[in-house]
Amino acid sequence: MQNKMSIQGSWASRWIFILAATGSAVGLGNIWKFPYITGENGGGAFVLVYLVCILFVGIPIMMTEVFIGRRARRNPIGALESLSEESNTSTAWKGIGLIGMLAGVFIFSFYSVVAGWVLQYIQTMATGGLNGATSEQAGAYFNGLLADPQTLLIWHSIFTVMVIVVVAAGVNKGLERATRIMMPALFVLLLVLLGYAMSTDGFAAGWNFMFEFDFSKLSWDAVLVALGHSFFTLSLGMGTIMAYGAYMPKKASVGGTVLAIGALDTIVALIAGLAIFPIIFSNGMDPAAGPGLMFISLPVAFGQMAFGQFFGLLFFILIGIAAWTSAISLMEPTVAFLVEKFGMKRLNATVLLGIVCWAMGITCVGSFNFMSDYTLFGKNAFDFLDFITANIMMPLGGILIALFAGWAVKEQFAKEEIGVSDIAFSAWKISIRFVAPVAVTIVFVYNLL
Ligand code: PHE
Ligand code: NA
Repeated sequence: MQNKMSIQGSWASRWIFILAATGSAVGLGNIWKFPYITGENGGGAFVLVYLVCILFVGIPIMMTEVFIGRRARRNPIGALESLSEESNTSTAWKGIGLIGMLAGVFIFSFYSVVAGWVLQYIQTMATGGLNGATSEQAGAYFNGLLADPQTLLIWHSIFTVMVIVVVAAGVNKGLERATRIMMPALFVLLLVLLGYAMSTDGFAAGWNFMFEFDFSKLSWDAVLVALGHSFFTLSLGMGTIMAYGAYMPKKASVGGTVLAIGALDTIVALIAGLAIFPIIFSNGMDPAAGPGLMFISLPVAFGQMAFGQFFGLLFFILIGIAAWTSAISLMEPTVAFLVEKFGMKRLNATVLLGIVCWAMGITCVGSFNFMSDYTLFGKNAFDFLDFITANIMMPLGGILIALFAGWAVKEQFAKEEIGVSDIAFSAWKISIRFVAPVAVTIVFVYNLL
């Protein structure tokens, strides 16, 4: 059973798997969300808590998802079911996969709308639309975009189609090919932009903001955000990494591979911060500007700097690529499930899921305009879907996966798959059995009180 291949195909090599999983991980979460939540939560101390969460919770859970997927070689629901059976335990665990598919649709719906903003800004930058703009003008431009459902809907639709086209083409001709082209481009763009940021006067201020730990600024709320973001940024707790793991070559060690993915995602987030905050500081702007940080402050900053239009354009192309490779991975678990469970054609499964995601995304388009009065727990659809996925569904899904692997799955299976030294395996086991579940529970409980 362990040596069979997924019917969807498999990655050509361990490196392709690393790049594909990194393509999933590196997205709007790194370049849009991480800098703005770091700004909102005071900088350094938040970054430190986030790094701790990645290392002690995120990485062990990622190893777990990869090994489950690779052992079962199926979609997440099928994988959880088959590992339950193999371990003689209840197959109710497959319910985690169901929550994950729902989370995937929810995330896609707001992700695609933000990606749509990025596409709009690629156009704006290319045509020099914000050259020399003041903060007021750039703010008005961004708010004008949000107030315009038609434009938002068009970009949301275009982005959804871009994703469908790749996913429908399959693991090798779609996902893998996109990975081979887009990931090198992403790394080159990132380094160019880092070099540009290092040449600005604000680099030291940006560096200090991110790495000076001021714990007085830390709240339980910020810890929840950091923990939730560590799941979001590594694409954990909703089946994506499990689905990608199902296509991983047998030979490669799960442990080392996952460390590489986690390290790459973290490096990209830190570089994004180091590319953005210096520009913010060298123009005397507010790091706590929230979700608009990237869309208001940055164009202003770029608009006033030498070669700013050019680098601004590169910047938004970079984010567009990152968002694209992540959105592709959001669809993969459910598409694989529809194909494997119901024998659907991959094309049909992708289009069906794409329509569901697209329709759901309309609520996020409307959140900023015609539906802004519809709120749930005081949040519009966009904020609500962002909040419950990142801060609740993904940590919960991740913890259930951890409990499953730590307590219900035969230990020997984990050991065979993860393939690390005895000490590293013990560390994994302690994290998955105790550290991760306890940490998430504490943070949840504190935030409920
Ligand atoms: N990890 C992606 C990011 O940081 C978001 C994502 C979450 C992608 C879940 C796929 C699955 O932007
Ligand atoms: Na990420």
